Amino acid sequence: MTEAVLLVGGKGTRLQPLTINTPKPMVPAAGVPFLAHQLARARAAGVDHVVLATSYLAEVFEPYFGDGSAHGIRLTYVTEDEPLGTGGAIRSAARALSARPGDPVLVFNGDILTGLDIPDLLLRHERAQADVTLHLTRVADPRAFGLVPTDATGRVLAFTEKPRHPDEIVTDQVNAGCYVFRRQVIDGIPDDRPVSVERETFPGLLADGALLHGVVDGSYWLDLGRPASFVQASADLVRGIVRSPAVPGEPGEYLVLPGAHVERGARLGGGTVVGAGARVGDGADVQGSVVLDGARIEAGAQVRASMVGTGARVGPRTVLDGAVIGDHSEIGADNELREGARIWCGTAIPDAAIRFSAV
Ligand code: GDD
Ligand code: MG
Repeated sequence: MTEAVLLVGGKGTRLQPLTINTPKPMVPAAGVPFLAHQLARARAAGVDHVVLATSYLAEVFEPYFGDGSAHGIRLTYVTEDEPLGTGGAIRSAARALSARPGDPVLVFNGDILTGLDIPDLLLRHERAQADVTLHLTRVADPRAFGLVPTDATGRVLAFTEKPRHPDEIVTDQVNAGCYVFRRQVIDGIPDDRPVSVERETFPGLLADGALLHGVVDGSYWLDLGRPASFVQASADLVRGIVRSPAVPGEPGEYLVLPGAHVERGARLGGGTVVGAGARVGDGADVQGSVVLDGARIEAGAQVRASMVGTGARVGPRTVLDGAVIGDHSEIGADNELREGARIWCGTAIPDAAIRFSAV
């Protein structure tokens, strides 16, 4: 039996306005809540029990995922009254685990899309006889992540979360947000206050001489914390660049969910997903984008690398490029919203009001 803790309690601030009403793991990517992809991947790796560590908007997970049986996995929910941080959440979730002190427990950040070979990570953990094994990935700019230098054997030498000083940037290897913990190490995390696993637990374990083992892996990896990466992840799932058993369709250039209506003269591509009940008008061109349920893309609109929220409307000939349109917003005709533009939920923008600029 393999068990996992999935951390899904963050506020998803960088994804606003999509995370105002919906916690980040419940925002749909390639047609289903992102969390469904993580559960499907965990299940495919042999995980049979997942504890969801919830906090922000905790109440929306259970109505969708229930006891997990529809997803072929047993799900337990542990909700923090106050956010306990990543370490506190792992400790709190451990109450629901059956793993014995020496058993391995997988822990996943809830916003990572990766092609990591999870059984291989478990195997490496066993072989190294590590206290904690960390999945590491190399990135061009590591400053937004946890830096994890290792020696030639894979032993972790330090853990520096989001370094502030240039001198601290000693490696391009970063924490990829998936760990294997020996169960008893989790039980050593304080249970009466917030704890950051990155800022407190890992540095503390290293100082105590624990064996933290890093596995650098070059497979697909993306943190979905920002709108551009969320849209990218959805498009890559639709196109099959990264595989998930939860995608409701075969890999292809676009995915249209049942109940959506796309006019024959519309063009879809680049991994676009069109949600249930959404409509795409004649001559509209939608590339590499996420159009959520019930949204309307009017005739001649051009949408690229953007996210259009539930029930939102994009007017005729309007151009979106790298934009996020909040749920139930109304964007009039002939607008142009580019890189970084975010429209709050329920906003109305008149015809031809915004041109050539981000807001
Ligand atoms: N239950 C619970 N309670 N979950 C939480 C809490 C909490 O108080 N705080 C954060 N989480 C969850 C988030 O929902 C997310 O799934 C995960 O913990 C990590 O939090 P983020 O807010 O996404 O952290 P980050 O992206 O800035 O950094 C983390 O991920 C990087 C990789 O993407 C760190 O682990 C970095 O070291 C790492 O490099
Ligand atoms: Mg994150």
